[in-house]
Order: sequence, then structure tokens, then C-alpha cells
Amino acid sequence: MLDTEYLLCERVLFVDQLRIRGGLRVAGEISVHGAKNSSLPLLAATILGKSQSILHNCPRLSDVDAAVRILSYLGCPVERSGHTVWVDTSQLSHFDVPEELMREMRSSIVFLGAIAARLGKVKISFPGGCELGPRPIDLHLSSLRKLGLIIREDHGFLDCEVAGRLKGAVIPLSFPSVGATENILLAAATAEGVTQILNAAQEPEIADLADFLNACGAKISGAGKSTIFIEGVEELHGAEHEVIPDRIVSATYLCCAAATGGEILVRRACPETVAGVLPVLEQMGCRIYTGEKSIYLKAPERLKRIRTVRTMPYPGFPTDAQAPVMAAAALADGTSVFVENIFESRYKHVAELARMGADIKVEGKVAVVNGVKKLYGAGVEATDLRGGAALVVAGLAAEGETVVSQIQHIDRGYEQIEESLNSLGAHIQRVTEKAAEDQ
Ligand code: UD1
Repeated sequence: MLDTEYLLCERVLFVDQLRIRGGLRVAGEISVHGAKNSSLPLLAATILGKSQSILHNCPRLSDVDAAVRILSYLGCPVERSGHTVWVDTSQLSHFDVPEELMREMRSSIVFLGAIAARLGKVKISFPGGCELGPRPIDLHLSSLRKLGLIIREDHGFLDCEVAGRLKGAVIPLSFPSVGATENILLAAATAEGVTQILNAAQEPEIADLADFLNACGAKISGAGKSTIFIEGVEELHGAEHEVIPDRIVSATYLCCAAATGGEILVRRACPETVAGVLPVLEQMGCRIYTGEKSIYLKAPERLKRIRTVRTMPYPGFPTDAQAPVMAAAALADGTSVFVENIFESRYKHVAELARMGADIKVEGKVAVVNGVKKLYGAGVEATDLRGGAALVVAGLAAEGETVVSQIQHIDRGYEQIEESLNSLGAHIQRVTEKAAEDQ
């Protein structure tokens, strides 16, 4: 083949990998960054304010970058310095979100409620499935229809409009969906009349969104409980708000220390919001103390098995912590059982952990983890955000070198994970490799 032909059929890409030297104890103090899952709906919520809003403690993550790109496309200038974001939504000029921006991040569906409330019309592409399996948005759509939004589903697009204001309604959710609850809050804050959400999601990110909206002039009560009342107001203004700490990042750092026989103090955390995970780590033999904004963990020499971990809506054990905790359980003494109740396809990390020597059997929702004495470094692929984090936990504890590829998944939710963990005694290098992609 001629050189030129070769160039025509291949494109050189640069991809990042994490090279982890395993077997070092994770120990020390670390501050946790702001919550990704709060920042995304909060950025969408700034649209309702029709002026400038300021968010502090907003993490530097690729998913946040994607939300910022959507705001910029909509005609809202965004400035960032460190972890502070200024958004000026006074000149919002578009009512559509292009497909390529929607594809970058499934959770951009929260822009639907916000744009509908502000402009009375929206065109957005259907977010489709993702690494966690099918992710329907039927609850988002039926709820917004209850508020009076007319939604046409047309070849992968959602074309929505309402004449005048949306109208308050009683909305019972058949499942406490986080995203649907957020979309209802956004749409109902400026609707005419009162909205009541029954069986609402109770995740801390919901209360954070309601706190911001209330600071913007909304009248929302009960957020964080299963019934939320929203008394619609005519207009909102901008506000300044500090994003809550990321509870899943906190749980992941705790798992890193737990799996490596380490000792960690996680600062700037919110222990209450990690309460679903802490008893599980205690059951594994970790000593845990919590302060007002900190969590201390000291791991035993060898972790004990967990009886059964069932993922549940908040305040239960979070599905997002399932993979990192499973990586730690892979090294525990005895058999642990996980039951994944939230997402259909959330065990993709299992095959990768198996490459490192883990003994895990999956049948439907259930994963049976037979703890092994050692994991061994291997080349593994991050299949999704938290599954990728689990490979980092396992790599830290394994003997030898682990190379994690496809780490763009990890960068969606962990700010400079290698720097954070290296500050705790780990040895992780981010390397950029040339990769050729067939055209
Ligand atoms: C959010 C979080 C995600 C977390 C999840 C559950 C963000 C950006 N993401 O995702 O990290 O894992 O909560 O805690 O905040 N469902 C339907 N129909 C719907 C909506 C949801 O069937 O209209 C199903 C989903 O397929 C899934 C379950 O409900 O099986 C939970 O989804 P949901 O609570 O909506 O999660 P997300 O908001 O997508």
C-alpha cells in the first residue's frame, strides 16, 4: 500500500490512558469537588433567571463543559475562573439544542424543562440510550405534558410548545426519577398555579436545585422529601449559589483507601449525603468517623465481605457507587452480593475487573463477588463513568501496572483523578498515546 493510501484510510487520534502502579497505600487528606449531578441542572436553571447567575464550586469536568457549550449555543455568554461560573441568560436567543450537543451528554435533557419555561417552545433531539442501557424519558415527557407542554415526537426530535404559561398540576411519578423531578421543578417554577410532585426523587441534588431556584425567587417547598410543592411565580431573577459536594466522588475516594488498606480524610464533603455508602464500608471492616464536613476512613488489613448491597433511590445505596464498592469487594475475604435495581446494564466493569483476576458472576440484576486475595495489573477499558472509577480503585490495589483506556468516561465526573490520587500517595500517570482509527 502506498503511504498516501495509508493516510487516506486511517486517521491518527490522540487518546489518554491512565497508567497505575498498583500496591501503594492511599493515605492522606483530600478535598472533594462540587457535584457534577447538581451542576448540570443548575446550569440549565440559570436560563430561568433572565439575568446573570453565579455558581461557585462548579467542577471542571467534561460534562460541565458540555452544559456550558449548550448555554453558549443558546446565546448565553459563560465565563469561568477556577470553580466559579458566571452565566448571563438575559439574551437567550435559541430554543433548540443541536443533536451533536445533545449526544455529548444524555443528561442535557434537563434543558427541556428550562427552555420550555423561559421561551414556551423547545426543539431538542431525543437523548437515546447510553452505556447504562436504554434510558427512557417517558416520565419527563408525561410530566411536562401534564403541565401543558404540547410535545410532538418526530424522527428522533422533540418539538414542544405551549401557548402562554405552563400550568401547575399534580404529578405522581411511578418511579422517583431524578431527571424527571428536575425537569418538573424547572418547568413548574414559573408555571401558573401550584404543582405537586408525588413520589419525587429525594436525591440531595434535587434540594440543591430547589435552593438555587428559591434564591432566584421561586417558591418551592419539600425538595429532598417525596412530596414537593411548587407555587408558580411569574418571573425569576439570577442568583449566586454554591454547588454541594460530590457524594459519589467522596465515596470513590473512600473506596480507594478501603481497597488499599489505607487511611483517608475526605474534606469539604457532606457526610449525610454519603450515608447510604458508609455502613457498607463499615461492614467491610473500615473504621469511619464523620465530622460536619469531613469523612475519615481507616481500612483494615483485609476487607471483610459485604452481605448484600441493593442499589436504591436516595437515601438508599446509590447505583453510582456500586462499581467502585464492587472493586473493593473483589478483594474482600468472602462472598459479597450486589443487586442493581436502578439501571439495566450496569455491570460492564465486571468483565474488566475479571481481566485483573476478580471472581465475579453476574446473573441479571445480581452480581456475586467471590473475594480474591490479589488482583493483578492488566490493560482494561473504562466502559462508563463509574465503571471506569472502579477500574482505578482496582488498579490502585492490584499487583503490577494497570493501564486504563477510554478514560474520557472518567473525566466526565472526576476532576484530574490522577492528580488527586497522587496527592494521596498513589502513582498514576496520564499518558497520551497515538491511536489510529480506521475510516
Ligand atoms: C441521575 C444521575 C445518575 C444516577 C441516577 C440514579 C444525573 C446527571 N445523573 O440520572 O448519575 O445514576 O440519577 O440515581 O443526575 N427512567 C424511566 N423513565 C424516565 C426516567 C427514568 O424509565 O423517564 C428510569 C431509568 O431508565 C432508570 C431509572 O428510571 O432505570 C432511574 O433514572 P433517573 O433517576 O431518571 O436517573 P437520571 O436522572 O437519568
